[in-house]
Amino acid sequence: MTLVLKTSEKAIAEAANIMASGGVVAFPTETVYGIGADATKRDAVEKVFAAKKRPHDNPLIVTVSNAEMASRFAKLDWRAEKLIENFWPGSLTMILPLIDQDILPDNVTAGLLTAAFRNPKNDVTRHLITLLNNPIVGPSANLSTKPSPTTAEHVLHDMDGRIDAVIDDGPTEIGVESTIVDLSVKQATILRPGAVTADQVSSVLGEKVIDPTGPISLAANIAPKAPGMKYRHYAPSKAVVIFNQTDLKDLKQQLKKNDAVVALEDSLNQLKLDRRHSWSLGETADSATEELFSALRFFDDQKDIQTIYVESLPSEGIGEAYMNRLEKSAGGQHFGL
Ligand code: TXA
Ligand code: MG
Repeated sequence: MTLVLKTSEKAIAEAANIMASGGVVAFPTETVYGIGADATKRDAVEKVFAAKKRPHDNPLIVTVSNAEMASRFAKLDWRAEKLIENFWPGSLTMILPLIDQDILPDNVTAGLLTAAFRNPKNDVTRHLITLLNNPIVGPSANLSTKPSPTTAEHVLHDMDGRIDAVIDDGPTEIGVESTIVDLSVKQATILRPGAVTADQVSSVLGEKVIDPTGPISLAANIAPKAPGMKYRHYAPSKAVVIFNQTDLKDLKQQLKKNDAVVALEDSLNQLKLDRRHSWSLGETADSATEELFSALRFFDDQKDIQTIYVESLPSEGIGEAYMNRLEKSAGGQHFGL
């Protein structure tokens, strides 16, 4: 049984105690829920891999409560300092060179000389890390390959009985994982798109960042450097098919009773489906990104649903992160192709 801790001072202290003695607790962030363990304890980190069924060649994010904590482990150059000043706490994870190869257990780093550092915009989790006085590892709290969890209920769906506790702090704000920028190379490079865009990073650094995750390079099939991005990901067990707004008429004619549609409010109004077969993404790219994983998880659990049609959005701003996750969920399946 996994203990459910509703956010409170006492709950945070209890979670810190569990982690201090080598336990595993799922925690809220502004992006998605993560699975935490003390990042300096090899055995505790090992439990996170087991709970997630995560392959060991995929390194973990190191979650800190401030820049000083990151500087105990990694070298921060002027680019890191500038990005921290502008985006921390927030949804930007930085790949940084480690001070020393053995400063973190090798299951955290997968043996690399770098690690990913993140300072989430969630007071509960930052307070927890401050109490523990050590960083915590923080992969998303889903079973490997499944959509990331945006509520404590999603966490329990995948992790009940597999971890010691979850802190329930309500639904997350953003809905997809943080942007990852690699600063261990000469020219800063985006490894995973998120709420902080490549343009925002470029403008703070005053130099162009490389963004091989953008729509053009996705088509060119460039091998991703973040080890996790090569695995099947964000995928429910049902078929996911992407459609465009211009497909609405054809889609309406072809829909069968085992199909579900996840779309913007306007599009759903045109399709006139009942609630059991539709999920609204709201009216904006922000609301769509917030809803995407919940929608996929909901229809994954509906026995009679076989195919989930999901609306595409322009790949700009947060839309780039939305489309990146959706393309991976769909495994390249598009309506009419
Ligand atoms: O929003 C987030 O970042 C969430 C919340 C819970 O904080 N966490 C998250 O962690 O998405 P995870 O483990 O699911 O994704 C981390 C990604 C993986 O694709 C991993 O391969 C990559 O970061 N990564 C970790 N260390 C790396 C390194 N040293 N070099 C390159 N990629 C790295
Ligand atoms: Mg993940």
